Amino acid sequence: MALLKIARLGHPVLIRPAAPVDDPTDAEIRRLIADMIDTMKDAQGVGLAGPQVYQSRRVIVFEAPAERAGAGEEPGPALAEAGGVAGVPLTALINPSFEPIGEALDLGLEGCLSIPGLSGVVPRFARIRYRGVTQDGETVAREASGFHARVVQHEIDHLDGVLYPMRMTDLTLLAFNEEVGRMLAALDEIDGEDG
Ligand code: NI
Repeated sequence: MALLKIARLGHPVLIRPAAPVDDPTDAEIRRLIADMIDTMKDAQGVGLAGPQVYQSRRVIVFEAPAERAGAGEEPGPALAEAGGVAGVPLTALINPSFEPIGEALDLGLEGCLSIPGLSGVVPRFARIRYRGVTQDGETVAREASGFHARVVQHEIDHLDGVLYPMRMTDLTLLAFNEEVGRMLAALDEIDGEDG
């Protein structure tokens, strides 16, 4: 198990577009993915992208347990078989891309391991189709909505040098984690009972 150092907001590697991976089955990429998964789990994150560990390569990993994934997700095959609730299965993708399905946007709270201690409300496409290649050279193509779609968009953004505050349309909705409850409560007051 190798834990990688995580780049923090302000480091140039985070705003530089990452390079495509020529050979997804390269042993070096396999090692990078294993280390990224270890690092993500250790940091209790739900996603991590190459640039966040100083590797300017188009590689992402993500996983979200059901309690963090929200409702309305398509269960992964293993979970569906087990009759469990839907989460986002542990996934590592090389050279990933996505396209929105429809134009509907969702607002949701995001954090980032490169911006510790803060969270912000970010608009994202509600439904997407995404694809990428695994370390075995197989193509993965999925549709996702809700939190699953949000995580994928956040991680692919990292590969283009985009951090979630750059996607925010209202910077008053950026808060320290300890103040998020108060911020959202204030938002409820503004928006009325629809929240
Ligand atoms: Ni992030």
